[in-house]
Amino acid sequence: MAYPIDIRPITESERAWQREILTEHFSSPTISSRRKWIDTMVLPGLVAWRGGQRVGILMHAPMARGAECELVAFAASETQSGVGTPLLAAFVEAGRRAGCSRLVLTTTNDNLDAMRLYQRRGWRMVKVYPGAMDDARREMPEMPLIGSYGIAMRDDVEFELRLDGGESTE
Ligand SMILES: CC(C)(COP(=O)(O)OP(=O)(O)OC[C@H]1O[C@@H](n2cnc3c(N)ncnc32)[C@H](O)[C@@H]1OP(=O)(O)O)[C@@H](O)C(=O)NCCC(=O)NCCS
Repeated sequence: MAYPIDIRPITESERAWQREILTEHFSSPTISSRRKWIDTMVLPGLVAWRGGQRVGILMHAPMARGAECELVAFAASETQSGVGTPLLAAFVEAGRRAGCSRLVLTTTNDNLDAMRLYQRRGWRMVKVYPGAMDDARREMPEMPLIGSYGIAMRDDVEFELRLDGGESTE
C-alpha cells in the first residue's frame, strides 16, 4: 500500500537537509531567478513526507496580502512519484489563505516536464528572460550547460498563477 503524503512547514532543524537536496538539484541552495540570486536558506518552505521520510521540498518568499509571492525552489527526491502535485497544491492553498495577488515561479527552458506540470495545473507562461541562465552560469560555473532532453539550459521562463481574478496579460 502506498503511504499518503503529508506536507509540513520546514523547521530550522531541517536546513542541512534542505541544503543537500537543493544542491543536488540546482547546484546550490542559492537560486538564480529572473536575473536575481535568491538565498533559500532564509526563506519559509514546505516539506513533503511519505512513510516517515522527507521526499520533497518547496521554498518560497514570505507571503503578504495583496502582494506577489515567488516559488523559488521545488524538488522531489524521486521525480514523477506523485510528490510534486500535492506540494504545489499546498503552496497555492497557502497563497490563497494569505491573500496573495499572484504566485510566480521560473523554470529553465529545458525543463519541459516542469512546464507541463505547471500548465496542467493552471499556471500561465508569462515571460522569458533570454540568456538569464547563461549569465547565472558565469557567476556559478558548477551549473551544468546541458539540461533535460539534451537541451542547453540558457533562459528563464516565468509562470504565474493569478489569485486575484486578474487575467495573465503583458
Ligand atoms: C518538479 C518536481 C518537484 C515535480 O514533482 P513530481 O513528484 O515529479 O511531480 P508529480 O509526480 O506529482 O507530477 C509530475 C508528473 O508526473 C506524472 N506521474 C506521477 N506519477 C507517475 C508515475 N508513477 N509514472 C509516470 N508519471 C507519473 C504526473 O501525472 C505528472 O504528470 P502531469 O503533469 O501530466 O499530470 C520533480 O519532478 C523534480 O524534483 N524535478 C527536478 C527538479 C525540478 O525540475 N524542479 C522544478 C524547477 S522549476
